Amino acid sequence: MRQPLVAGNWKMHGSRAENASLVSGLLDLLQPGKRAEILLCPPFPYLMETGRLLKDSGVALGAQSVCAESQGAFTGEVSAAMLKDVGCRYVLVGHSERRQLFGERDALVARKFVAAQGQALVPVLCVGETLEEREGDQTTSVVSRQLEAVLAVTGVQALARAVIAYEPVWAIGTGRTASPEQAQEVHALLRGRLAAAGAADVRLLYGGSVKAANAASLFGMPDVDGGLVGGASLDAREF
Ligand code: 13P
Repeated sequence: MRQPLVAGNWKMHGSRAENASLVSGLLDLLQPGKRAEILLCPPFPYLMETGRLLKDSGVALGAQSVCAESQGAFTGEVSAAMLKDVGCRYVLVGHSERRQLFGERDALVARKFVAAQGQALVPVLCVGETLEEREGDQTTSVVSRQLEAVLAVTGVQALARAVIAYEPVWAIGTGRTASPEQAQEVHALLRGRLAAAGAADVRLLYGGSVKAANAASLFGMPDVDGGLVGGASLDAREF
């Protein structure tokens, strides 16, 4: 039984005051006993304070990225041990914005994945194709390549302890979400690959313009186990 997971990726948004009001709005709306796990991923400087605001709420804390190195002279970087130390349970790796804007390639993403698990953090491995790749019929090959790059380094046992998020780049922040059928098609492909390797129970999230109005139809698909939500996660009611 895969427990649904709904994660909010705040990206580079927020302030101490805004975060406090967002979290208190969310906690007011949370209904005890609902079966989905909730995860919030604020920017680094706000992790500790958000963790304090979430204390005893059952909502998990995660970071948006992590350094592949464990410690040392890596100016501007944040290690997995530090994330663990401030209360994170999860960390995103390979988000398309990291890949596209900060040059993170498959090999580095795999190393970050390993670094995260080395500190018992659960990596949320993001994969997804660009519009050009989709239109060139490359969705399957791109998503498979991104998954295999990690599998080859970590092995399937490690992947079984992670979460995978399918985020088509053309659907991120564009208001143009994948249809439930498009999401399911890629999720089924990922599920098939994982099942063949013996890790059928990995949770697969969909991300890309998820909001209240489309969440139910996306999350209702058989291989969609929840969502990774960007913009809509900044509004408590919408999230
Ligand atoms: P949006 O929900 O704003 O499209 O962002 C999705 C995303 O990138 C989450 O990681």
